[in-house]
Amino acid sequence: MDVRGVRRVFRSAGEAEVVAVDGVDLAIAPGEFVAMLGPSGCGKSTLLRMIAGLDRADAGAIRIDRGEERSAIAYVFQDAHLLPWRSVQDNAALPLELLGRDAGERREAARRAIEQVGLGDAADRFPAQLSGGMRMRVSLARALVTEPRLLLLDEPFAALDEITRQQLDDQLRALWRATGMTVLFVTHSIAEAAFLAERAVVLTRRPARVVLEHRIDLPSERDAALRGDPRFAHETRVLYEALARGNGGAA
Ligand SMILES: Nc1ncnc2c1ncn2[C@@H]1O[C@H](COP(=O)(O)OP(=O)(O)OP(=O)(O)O)[C@@H](O)[C@H]1O
Ligand SMILES: [Mg+2]
Repeated sequence: MDVRGVRRVFRSAGEAEVVAVDGVDLAIAPGEFVAMLGPSGCGKSTLLRMIAGLDRADAGAIRIDRGEERSAIAYVFQDAHLLPWRSVQDNAALPLELLGRDAGERREAARRAIEQVGLGDAADRFPAQLSGGMRMRVSLARALVTEPRLLLLDEPFAALDEITRQQLDDQLRALWRATGMTVLFVTHSIAEAAFLAERAVVLTRRPARVVLEHRIDLPSERDAALRGDPRFAHETRVLYEALARGNGGAA
């Protein structure tokens, strides 16, 4: 994916216009795992929505790689957005229903996706019977059910407790390694970005510009112990300093 000079301006009647994104350049190779960090309101969701084709840029260009076109993109929002009257299984199968796949294929693919996120035992439950972490897993399963080549996640685990979040981070990284899909993950958490990604992109406050592109120099096998490693502390420090710079302050 290649994002060049992208700009997005919001205009509302009677209000000053808001330049949400301005002059952002970002290249992501197929199969990469990139984390995007930036202050609240800097334009991260706006950028992600444009990449997903849910919104249009006012200027600049977004080129999506072959194989990562619209139908191969999945998007995970901060809220799970499940349909309360549908079981876990039927929530996960929804994208396939919208694509008109037959019932047998839907059932099998939804099963697989639910297993992938560790919810095999809860397939027949309903959203009201799930914890917040389980709901996010269903949301992730629903994104995986179409076997996307490009997965876009917008602060998906932000509302979860730290332990649950780390479990989901572990699982997402394992899924990425198993599938080879491209992942762009927006987060406010420096530690989460360092743990998950191969590369981190740090944005300034609004309008978002790239202040740092940084390769995370950590082993590809990552587990809980890594979070206490001095190399991990070093990576988070680098990201923290860039965030502080982009926010107009000193670290
Ligand atoms: N549809 C819209 N209409 C008007 N303004 C908008 C719209 N969407 C976003 N904005 C404005 O654009 C700016 C960037 O918003 P965006 O949601 O992209 O930020 P963000 O980086 O995702 O923030 P957060 O980290 O809090 O989720 C904000 O000032 C926001 O108010
Ligand atoms: Mg946002």
